[in-house]
Parts: sequence; structure tokens; C-alpha cells
Amino acid sequence: MSLWGGRFSEPSDEELRQLNDSIPFDHILYAEDIEGSMVYARALAGAGVISADEAETIIQGLRQVTEEFDADRFQLAEGDEDIHTAVERRLTEIVGDVGGKLHTGRSRNDQVATDFRLWAMRAADGLADELRRLQAAIVTLAEQHTETLMPGYTHLQPAQPISAAHWLMSFFWMLERDLDRLHSARRRMAVCPLGSGALAGSPFAVDRRRIAAELGFDRPSANSLDAVSDRDFVADMLYAICLCAAHLSRMAEDILIYSNPAFGFITLDDRYSTGSSLMPQKRNADPMELMRGKTGRLIGNLTGFLSTLKGLPSGYNKDLQEDKEALFDAVETMRRLLPVVGATVRHLRINEDAMEAALTEDLLATDLADYLVGRGLPFRQAHHVVGSVVRLAADRGESLSQLPLSVLKGVSTVFAEDVAAVFSFERSARQRNSIGGAAPDAVRGQIAEAKARLSS
Ligand code: ARG
Repeated sequence: MSLWGGRFSEPSDEELRQLNDSIPFDHILYAEDIEGSMVYARALAGAGVISADEAETIIQGLRQVTEEFDADRFQLAEGDEDIHTAVERRLTEIVGDVGGKLHTGRSRNDQVATDFRLWAMRAADGLADELRRLQAAIVTLAEQHTETLMPGYTHLQPAQPISAAHWLMSFFWMLERDLDRLHSARRRMAVCPLGSGALAGSPFAVDRRRIAAELGFDRPSANSLDAVSDRDFVADMLYAICLCAAHLSRMAEDILIYSNPAFGFITLDDRYSTGSSLMPQKRNADPMELMRGKTGRLIGNLTGFLSTLKGLPSGYNKDLQEDKEALFDAVETMRRLLPVVGATVRHLRINEDAMEAALTEDLLATDLADYLVGRGLPFRQAHHVVGSVVRLAADRGESLSQLPLSVLKGVSTVFAEDVAAVFSFERSARQRNSIGGAAPDAVRGQIAEAKARLSS
């Protein structure tokens, strides 16, 4: 039996019922739904709407419902259109008519908004823990490679030498911002809609501050009409997840490129690589492709849900039921991805020799210009001079360091004997010792800061 049958002379069409039912996916909110109901029963007693004994009976009945769900013994019945309906129906079977008092002053509109916020707050905490583990894996690997040099790229073209640690740590900081976004989304979630009724508030003196506090919210919502249809928290969290996934997708792309034999900078552990059913030599980085691929799906969840929101009139509308599958899917996708991405990083092998072999002297062209700047040449001119030197070296089929000093002097008289010192990748990296730079000391500095954040 539905919760709203009184006004109708005929039951809903079966196909509409199937379309309308959210129980197939919102049953995972059972714990939050029941917690909300227990607190609400106490609030009704506090307001004198039901007796303390009645509240106790309801709470005992709800405990039994929880046990049935926990043990996977809960039996769905005809008419259980969503988790709220199912829980109330079962409660009333267990405790009798008094169960019918629980919904006094409450609507599924404030109920679902409350349940889903609670669920999202917990999900955000779970994802944050997993992100921390991934960051720790990055730091552990980076610590071993502050002196391992590799080409840094812009436009995917060789640019300047950096260390493998510097490359790895760049993702730590992206994830640090992602965590911050997740935390701030969670902070905005912690506002309790329960007590807003269907849209206009409650005529019963339920203590909304107390309800909010008992459920772990920071405060009750300030406007009941807003509260029942505010799904900012869903969009916030989807966005936080999306950007985090976009960062990890970029990391995945780097790992895919660097593990390609043409680069050979890194090797994925066997457990996190896959083979080909046809080509015996293949070693594919499928986990990274899944990270990249599923990011598209996550972005779809966000844009899809924003489209759902944008045209809604005030108050609750059934469109809002779309919030759940979008966020459930996004959270579940991340829950599956993050441990695998973390383990892939944890077991990544850095091939120091291949990285070193990829260091070509053109990566030192900026250092050569900086050398001329050190000898008084304006940078713009130095840039031009070194451009000519690079072209000359290419024409002669020589590397920069192979060019005789006389040839260099032919391009600019500023060159002198000590130019030889410039042709060192270690020196190049060491020079970039500004805060946040690629110099080993600077990278050890960021690692120390990262570790302090991990342990705080
Ligand atoms: N299953 C619904 C949802 O997820 C619960 C709220 C239903 N409210 C209503 N007025 N029909 O949005």
C-alpha cells in the first residue's frame, strides 16, 4: 500500500510505478533513514506530540528494522516505493498503529534531504581517507627519487630537467586541493533539513537544533522551502569528485606515456598491468585507462545533474530523485578506482637509467641563456643567441657541449671557458632552488611540508 493512497480511487499504473520507484537504488540509505527517524521520534516526544513510551516503542521497532537490513533479511513489499516508505511500512507491521505517528509534521521531502546529506557526509569522509592514502603512496615513492632526474615536459616536448620526485609530488598538491574541496563541500552539507516538513516548516514544536546536533549536523537549515529542494551539496560533491578524477586522469595519462617502451621511465607492477589475449608481448596499463575513462563518466554525472537542477521551480520536485544515482555512481566509481590507483603508484617501478638516458642537452638551453645573463647579457638577447647556438649544433650534427668554444664565441663573444660547467643536468636541477622548484633541496622541502600535512 502506498503512503498517499487516500485521495485516489485507482492504484498507479504498473509501468509508472516502476519508473517512480527509487527503492532499487535508495535502499542503501536505510541506516541514515532510520537514524533520522529515531531522532525524530525523540523530537516528537520532546514536543509532546507522542508520549515517551510511544517514542521508545517506535525506536525499538526501528532497531529491529535496522537489524533486518543489516542481516540482509529485510523483505520488500508491494508499494515500497522508496526507502522511507519501506521503513515506515515495516515499522508499522512491527509496532502497530503507533508507527503511523512517526511521520507527524514530517514529509519525505525533508526526510530524503536529511538522509542523503548524512550519507554524503559519510561518503565524503570515506573518500577523503582514501585520498590521503593515495597521497601517502605518492610521497613515499617521491622520497626515494629526489635525485632521480628526468626530462620535464611542456607541450609534451622536452623542456627542462626535473626529478622524478618533483613530477610525482605535483600530483600530491593537486590532491591536496581536491581534499580541501571535499572538506568544504562537506562543511556546507552539514545543515539539517529535518523539521522543514513538505515545504513550509512544522507546526509541531520539534527542537530542530537538537535534531541537527543529534544527527551530527552543524545546524538546522534556515529556510524550509530552500531546505527541501537544496541539492547544492550533491553538485558540490560531484564537482569535487570530478576535479579530483580529472587530476588523477592526468596522472594516469603521464603513467601511460612514461610506461610506454618508447619512454620506459616507469614499469607497472604485474598485478596492476594487463595482457593481451592475442599479442603475447603486451603489457597494458589498463588501470590507468580506466581512471582516464571513468573520469568521463564522472563528468557526465555532474553535468547531467546540473541540467536536472537548472529549470526546477521552487520546492521539491520529483526531478530531484535523480540526485541519488548520480552521486551513488560517482562515489562508488571513486571507491573502486582510488585503491587501485593508489596501489599502482605504491608499486610503480621508476627506471632511473631510462630517465637519465632521456636527458638530452637541449634541456639545458635555458641554462645556457641564464649563463649569458649571468655575464651581463639581457635575457631577450641571450635567448636569441642560444637559439642560434641550438640551430648551429643541429646543423653540425653535434650536441651543445660538443661545440668548440671558438664556435660559441663566433655566435657571441660573451661565451667564455667556464661555459663547460653549464652542461650538467644535476647543476641545472640544483639551480632551481626557489620555493617549489625542482632542485633536490626544494623538493625535499615540499616533501617535508607534505608529510606534515599527512600527519596533521
Ligand atoms: N524518493 C524520493 C526522492 O528520492 C523521496 C521524496 C519523495 N517526495 C515526494 N513528495 N514524492 O526524491
